Amino acid sequence: MGFSCQHAGTCGGCPSWATPYDEQLAHKRRALADALAEAGLDGAHARDARVTSLGEAGLRDRVDLALVREPDGTPRLGLWDLARSHVVDLEACPQLSPRLAAWHAELRRHLPPVARASLRLRVAPDGRRGLWVDLAHVDAKALFDAPTWLRDVGARAAIEMGQRRKPVILDPAPARPRLGKEPVLAPWFATWLGDDARETPLFGPIGGFSQPGLAPARAIVAAVRAALRDTGASDVLEIGCGNGQLTLPIAADGRRVVAVDTDAVALAGLAMGAERAGVSAHVDARSGSLAASGLAALAMGADALVVDPPRSGLGAFVPALGALPRPSRPRHLVYVSCYPEALARDAAALAAAGYDLAALEGVDQFPQTPHIEWIARFRGVLLTA
Ligand SMILES: C[S@@+](CC[C@H](N)C(=O)[O-])C[C@H]1O[C@@H](n2cnc3c(N)ncnc32)[C@H](O)[C@@H]1O
Repeated sequence: MGFSCQHAGTCGGCPSWATPYDEQLAHKRRALADALAEAGLDGAHARDARVTSLGEAGLRDRVDLALVREPDGTPRLGLWDLARSHVVDLEACPQLSPRLAAWHAELRRHLPPVARASLRLRVAPDGRRGLWVDLAHVDAKALFDAPTWLRDVGARAAIEMGQRRKPVILDPAPARPRLGKEPVLAPWFATWLGDDARETPLFGPIGGFSQPGLAPARAIVAAVRAALRDTGASDVLEIGCGNGQLTLPIAADGRRVVAVDTDAVALAGLAMGAERAGVSAHVDARSGSLAASGLAALAMGADALVVDPPRSGLGAFVPALGALPRPSRPRHLVYVSCYPEALARDAAALAAAGYDLAALEGVDQFPQTPHIEWIARFRGVLLTA
């Protein structure tokens, strides 16, 4: 297909655009191999790793953009430039899926009358459009005081505002638009169950976490399911479960999952998704943190761990895991990571705790950038010997 964009070379969204795509993939493998070597491990797994590619662009079903206005009021809606000195106004962005591109084009004709804001645009699997707006309190108040923009865009999309992701409620005029008290959880994303990969909804707020696009998320789910299938595990502890991207497929494969996350809203979404998918009986969702000293105890009795941590990685969880009595430790660990430095650092800590890196697979969900999602399998070698 090839990649072309009129903003290539300026926009910070695609810093690797000048590198042929095959070379980009080679760089991503090499970056992980180097990080592993720096952590004192063999990088061979990474240099030979299989990487699933779904195309050189057009994979995103959500995008985060900045809105700024020039002193004369001219808006710029886009991404920061490579030097991070100004926002590049993107009339179009080849990274967006066709449905998201259509929503982006429409929103550009109806921008909020504010000086600056952060916007997240989404298109759900069923086609509904969403907009999360994060902006200064004074600007939010102005939008509610003169609600033409809210009514106009609210007729085209669901709108959410602020760090607490509160929904904008538009009752018919003359009632004034208002903010709801709690986030509204709706099927903004999806996951895939069973051998026929049937799609089931994932519930969350518009501004909540999801993978950036449906097609790569489906490939990540397939890779994690395959990794677990090879372990034969029946009891899984999952850390960083979010609203269930991996939890629901693991549970639908007949495994029992204790699913842990710090985000109460995501856990509420997980409960809704599990109910809808008919797998609630297999999912035990719990609020918990990698930083909490007691979390490793939950691993006792599990056959496998699935972790999808934030960029900071697993931290003190790994030594705590290594301190558990050997017979009761999980024998397998599947690690999903978009941050090779943290993955490599944790791989070294896991090696010290008795877990060897057995296989690596990539899903290139961020083409034209140095980023990639890695799915790493670890085996508790000292435990099974
Ligand atoms: C990369 S996201 C993955 C979410 C989910 N697995 C998915 O694919 O959509 C990382 C998750 O880790 C959670 N998280 C962040 N810090 C955490 C911590 N200290 N302990 C446990 N989970 C944490 C976040 O709330 C988020 O849901």
